[in-house]
Amino acid sequence: MQLASNPQTGKGVVAGIVSLDMPISQTGPFRSMVEKLLVLPEYRNMGVAKRLMTKLEEVALGAGRPLILLDTVTGSPAELVYPKLGYTFVGVIPDYGISPKDGSLGGATLFYMDLRRGNQE
Ligand SMILES: CC(C)(COP(=O)(O)OP(=O)(O)OC[C@H]1O[C@@H](n2cnc3c(N)ncnc32)[C@H](O)[C@@H]1OP(=O)(O)O)[C@@H](O)C(=O)NCCC(=O)NCCS
Repeated sequence: MQLASNPQTGKGVVAGIVSLDMPISQTGPFRSMVEKLLVLPEYRNMGVAKRLMTKLEEVALGAGRPLILLDTVTGSPAELVYPKLGYTFVGVIPDYGISPKDGSLGGATLFYMDLRRGNQE
């Protein structure tokens, strides 16, 4: 959770959230997955996602889960954000999920970061 100060009220607000999934796996106990990254529209482009992901990476490393995987909707702004945060593009799965907006099928774009090796493009 990332806190920021509301410029009008001066009070603290939750400006963004992210969650990290650490599923039980015999073959990949070092893997983790980003499940949700969301920043309130009025706090976007202020480095909130960057701070959230930096904290998430610290947590993943501390939990022994340094191989971080994530997917995002193909064509969404987030597809451009993750490479800027150091994530490596893996590929696109077409027709991966149902859009909550209109029920249409959309693709998923996959990324990863391996904190054991540093970022490798
Ligand atoms: C995607 C999202 C999380 C980005 O959050 P943010 O707090 O605005 O991102 P930041 O300000 O930390 O920006 C991180 C980097 O991405 C860049 N960036 C941010 N939004 C961008 C956009 N729409 N297009 C291209 N680049 C963008 C920033 O310039 C910055 O790059 P830099 O480090 O080279 O300066 C936010 O727009 C959001 O919540 N979108 C809706 C939900 C969503 O798509 N979540 C991801 C689902 S997987």
